[in-house]
Amino acid sequence: MSRIVNLGVLVSGSGSNLQSIIDHIEKGTLPARIRIILGNNPGAFALERARRHGIPCAVIEHGGAGSREEYDRKLVDSLQAHDVELVVLAGFMRVLSPLFLRAFPMRIMNIHPALLPSFPGTHGQKKAFDYGVKFSGCTVHFADEGVDTGPVIIQAIVPVYDADTEETLSRRILKEEHRIYPKAIKLYAEGKLQVEGRKVRVKDHPQPEDSPRHNPPVVDF
Ligand code: GRF
Repeated sequence: MSRIVNLGVLVSGSGSNLQSIIDHIEKGTLPARIRIILGNNPGAFALERARRHGIPCAVIEHGGAGSREEYDRKLVDSLQAHDVELVVLAGFMRVLSPLFLRAFPMRIMNIHPALLPSFPGTHGQKKAFDYGVKFSGCTVHFADEGVDTGPVIIQAIVPVYDADTEETLSRRILKEEHRIYPKAIKLYAEGKLQVEGRKVRVKDHPQPEDSPRHNPPVVDF
């Protein structure tokens, strides 16, 4: 059953994932409301997107002598003051402290531009491209204390072709990010995500027949 979930979105950059979430909410396909968008970088285009859609946003800058915990305390205070239930990391370029994680246990989602646990950390697309994999993709997962290590909610795979560059691959991955992030949030809103240890079970979702994919194709072999 769906209810409206209060989101807090954390951003640092262009905010294209934020945009896809906003678009779904505005279309009525995602039962959520963005209560606050927080950025750590005043120049982030994501904040301009927030303003264009009339969504409250604020910049909390680091710098200065404050510790990581002190910074995270400010984020948590703002999110709680806005009655945020689910925190959505949308290109937020900071590692969260245990203080933050404890404030929102299994209520922080992140998106990563590779098929975790492969290629965690920054530049996931480039690492996959340089490695020479034939498929890469993206992953939405709950955040835990590691870097891109939390329980996986949903993944999308994309092929890597010989003609690709890091840029064309990144574009193909980003397109899928824009599909799976709103979907993961919707599953959460519908109460369909059940975390059991490392595994996230998705209630009542169809399990299609196995459909293996090959790249390059394996036909009549
Ligand atoms: C995306 O590639 C996402 O996977 C990563 O940061 C990037 C954010 O892009 N975590 P955008 O700001 O949503 O356009």
